[in-house]
Amino acid sequence: MSFFRNKVVIVTGSSSGIGKALALKLGEQGAKVVINSRGDGKLQQVADELSAKGYDILAVAANVGKLDDCRRLVDTTLGHYGRIDVLINNAGANMHGRVEDTDPEVLHLPMEINYLSALYMTRLCIPALKESRGGVLFVSSLAGIHGLPINAVYSSAKMGLRALAECLKAELTGTGVYAGIAYVGITENEKGKTIYNAKGEKFVRPDFNMLGMQTIADVADDILWMIRTRRFKHVFTFPGKLQAFLNSLFPELVQYLLTKAYLRRHRGGW
Ligand SMILES: NC(=O)c1ccc[n+]([C@@H]2O[C@H](COP(=O)([O-])OP(=O)(O)OC[C@H]3O[C@@H](n4cnc5c(N)ncnc54)[C@H](OP(=O)(O)O)[C@@H]3O)[C@@H](O)[C@H]2O)c1
Repeated sequence: MSFFRNKVVIVTGSSSGIGKALALKLGEQGAKVVINSRGDGKLQQVADELSAKGYDILAVAANVGKLDDCRRLVDTTLGHYGRIDVLINNAGANMHGRVEDTDPEVLHLPMEINYLSALYMTRLCIPALKESRGGVLFVSSLAGIHGLPINAVYSSAKMGLRALAECLKAELTGTGVYAGIAYVGITENEKGKTIYNAKGEKFVRPDFNMLGMQTIADVADDILWMIRTRRFKHVFTFPGKLQAFLNSLFPELVQYLLTKAYLRRHRGGW
């Protein structure tokens, strides 16, 4: 029997990309999946698509960067299913721009979407996760291993997730609750994926191809494997593992390489 059968799993940010792939795979494996995003339209489309396959889906539109919305998401889940077994803190968005060029009024956005969302949701789910002896997984990035120039606030938020995951792992010792963090590497993005610019406006991220890139479906499989096997930390892709290895032994080399790459791109006009 599938590990996820009949488990209630909340996947934040699941109307597209990795979150949608997670919802699809969890549905296939018999989980009761709570899908979420800020917007109603696309979320409802995904809910209809997955429900049509016979999966047990609850869609809750909520901005998980806001505490009140998180409360509503958790309360609606408990009201509908009566329990929470797994929380996947997946909602996230990058913001491109040098710190000095970024509008101070929008600097909070990546922190809200990538970090506060996970902190709020985890805090609110802990009592239910203790009852179910379930687990929480944080979706971080290679930007959470070493700060990436032009991605400063995103990197800060993803690094914050590391501290949160490490503290929780200690605090939850003996409760039976699992905590883990996934350092997702370069991933093939869904067409039309948007990120923020330095003015806080969304723009479509251009497609790119890189050696060792993973598909969205493979990333979702690896995340579910981490939860099943209760693995605390996993760095995805070969380039990601290389970066993590170099960073642990030669952080100044990684800093030098990133600075060179930044200067090359910056001279190129951005
Ligand atoms: N793709 C990559 O290359 C890559 C690499 C490393 C790490 N990651 C991480 O993987 C996760 C998923 O990334 P992705 O590429 O799949 O992103 P994506 O395709 O842009 O999907 C992001 C999802 O999150 C939702 N979302 C954004 N802000 C939200 C908020 N405040 N409240 C609720 N939902 C919100 C979006 O819907 P709405 O906009 O409608 O709310 C969407 O459903 C993120 O945490 C990202 O940082 C991705």
